Amino acid sequence: MERLQHMRSQIVLAENLAWLRDQVAAGFRLIYIDPPFNTGQRRELRSIRTVRDDEQGDRHGFGGRRYATVEVGRRSYDDRHDDYLEFLEERIAIARDLLTPDGSFFLHVDPREVHYCKVLMDTIFGRASFLNEIIWSYDFGGRSKRRWPAKHDNILWYARDPENYCFNYDAIDRVPYMAPSLVTPEKAARGKVPTDVWWQTIVPTNGRERTGYPTQKPVAILERIIKVHSDPGDTVLDFFAGSGTTGDAAARHGRRFVLIDDNPEAIGVMENRLRDAEPEVLGVEGR
Ligand SMILES: C[S@@+](CC[C@H](N)C(=O)[O-])C[C@H]1O[C@@H](n2cnc3c(N)ncnc32)[C@H](O)[C@@H]1O
Repeated sequence: MERLQHMRSQIVLAENLAWLRDQVAAGFRLIYIDPPFNTGQRRELRSIRTVRDDEQGDRHGFGGRRYATVEVGRRSYDDRHDDYLEFLEERIAIARDLLTPDGSFFLHVDPREVHYCKVLMDTIFGRASFLNEIIWSYDFGGRSKRRWPAKHDNILWYARDPENYCFNYDAIDRVPYMAPSLVTPEKAARGKVPTDVWWQTIVPTNGRERTGYPTQKPVAILERIIKVHSDPGDTVLDFFAGSGTTGDAAARHGRRFVLIDDNPEAIGVMENRLRDAEPEVLGVEGR
């Protein structure tokens, strides 16, 4: 714990099981992970650019000019795990012991996996340590005509000690009442504390927040978790860090971060995104 109080934030290129096994003493107040879902796919996002091409361009612009769309890069990572629960179990069990005595663990999964993951988490933390299942509800993309469109993710919150954990009630942002005319004008102006169902749009395709990394989560979700479940000066760990959303939210609110990912593309995206926080970058050859 002592060690973390003096260290800089870190971005680490590493396979997370190996990294976790190497940690001797730690004191993370908060751990959030968003592991790859067991979709059996390789996730890929193409970066494209439109260039002028009067010969072969298939898009027509002003003054008879023609343009073509060219691929300038691909970001991808493997989303296949033969045994998803076994994959998660060892990592989460080690990570639990890296929490402070009043630390919290957030596991972000989806409706296809959440029931298996909850049983796993109960086994590792004990059933009493389960505090909430947060439903992150969004509204984007196609809508099935054969069943209810699935538009939510599940975030399980477990405390290391269910009698002693960080919950900064006053730091919770307020949301509008559904029927403001039914409450006093003062209450309507203040808004209400959200429930365990959080409405939040996905990261907008063309917004400033967008890094281009597949499966990037909205920073607003992480900001809410970090403000309520840690204090300024604490250190937050994310060992499936991706584009570094956890680090972004931590830095915005005066927390340090440790971000682990085994994909060099993720490290590049995080370095770029979190430059202002001046993190140490470890595990990259030549540093
Ligand atoms: C779903 S993404 C995380 C997205 C992130 N929450 C964000 O907002 O950008 C999962 C990440 O875990 C990383 N990952 C998968 N297996 C890993 C492992 N064994 N060690 C370290 N990172 C891993 C992948 O490279 C990927 O970046």
